[in-house]
Amino acid sequence: MRTEVLPFSDESVALAAELLRAGQVVAVPTETVYGLAARADDAAAVLRIFEAKGRPSTNPLIVHVASVDAARELTDDFTPDAERLASRLWPGPLTLVLKRRAGVVADQTVAGGQTIAVRVPGSTVTRIVLQATGLPLAAPSANRSMSVSPTTAEHVLKSLDGRIPLVLDAGPCVWGIESTIVDVTRNPAVLLRPGALSLKALRRFVDVADPETLVVSPDERAPAPGTFAKHYSPRAKLILVSSMAFQAEVDRRRALGLSLGILSSSPDDQPRFSHATVEILPPEPEAFASGLYAALHRLDDAGCQEIIVVEPPRTSAWLAVWDRLSRAAASE
Ligand code: TXA
Ligand code: MG
Repeated sequence: MRTEVLPFSDESVALAAELLRAGQVVAVPTETVYGLAARADDAAAVLRIFEAKGRPSTNPLIVHVASVDAARELTDDFTPDAERLASRLWPGPLTLVLKRRAGVVADQTVAGGQTIAVRVPGSTVTRIVLQATGLPLAAPSANRSMSVSPTTAEHVLKSLDGRIPLVLDAGPCVWGIESTIVDVTRNPAVLLRPGALSLKALRRFVDVADPETLVVSPDERAPAPGTFAKHYSPRAKLILVSSMAFQAEVDRRRALGLSLGILSSSPDDQPRFSHATVEILPPEPEAFASGLYAALHRLDDAGCQEIIVVEPPRTSAWLAVWDRLSRAAASE
């Protein structure tokens, strides 16, 4: 299959909507990462997403809709917490897990579960595609399962060229990291995946259980099903080190003759490690998160065998970055 990449325009949106209505998959930009969309009400369409990504069919998809009212159609129980969060934070990088209304989306979309993950994207481009299609669209990140999420159309091609018919290109994603997922069927609400919106931002509006106290017993623990340890991984081996151990680790691995990548938020590291490929990200958590995937893609493209990353601060503002880095570093 030939993959077309078209800049966002009236014509490319019309083509995307036509393909989507016909049950095809299309990669579309959102404010978080590029998503691989298909109509959520059609089992065959949704199966094409799983196939193109190589994603296990047991891992449910996020359903995207153009408005809060459209989100209400997907559930019989839009809880008070859902009301509060939706009215303040939608459109935006927040996904709510709700009880699923029977018969609206295909069983495959929710992997046969009783709940549904829903979001109204902040990107106007995504909402224009949703409106043009007139359907709820299931969309996971537009990359092969387990690899680094795409924040540009080129990243999508690296992973899915020849496997999908169309990529809509609207430039780099603003947030650069996936949406925050919150289960609002429970009280207090439970953070299932840290993401673009911080815990602090959520807690302005609703009570959210402390992530640390989540791990009570294996039965009570309910992470997002797709949050396997190894995820979001570059091809290179990623190694997280404390700032104390940083220099020693770099020296040791350099002595082994490895081609090294370094990801740091200290500009001094650029001249200091002239033998390595160095990516410097801003020291603020949101800006760091927004550049993280693009930096990992570049380090991979540069052929680095190992990527050494200095651990970020252990504060809640860095939760999403910690989550992605530790998953990328996990060996399985
Ligand atoms: O920012 C985002 O959320 C992007 C853009 C494209 O919207 N999408 C995204 O989708 O990150 P994906 O498939 O890569 O991640 C969706 C996560 C998975 O971990 C999945 O297990 C979880 O959401 N999920 C989906 N439905 C769920 C449900 N009903 N209950 C709990 N977790 C769910
Ligand atoms: Mg993903």
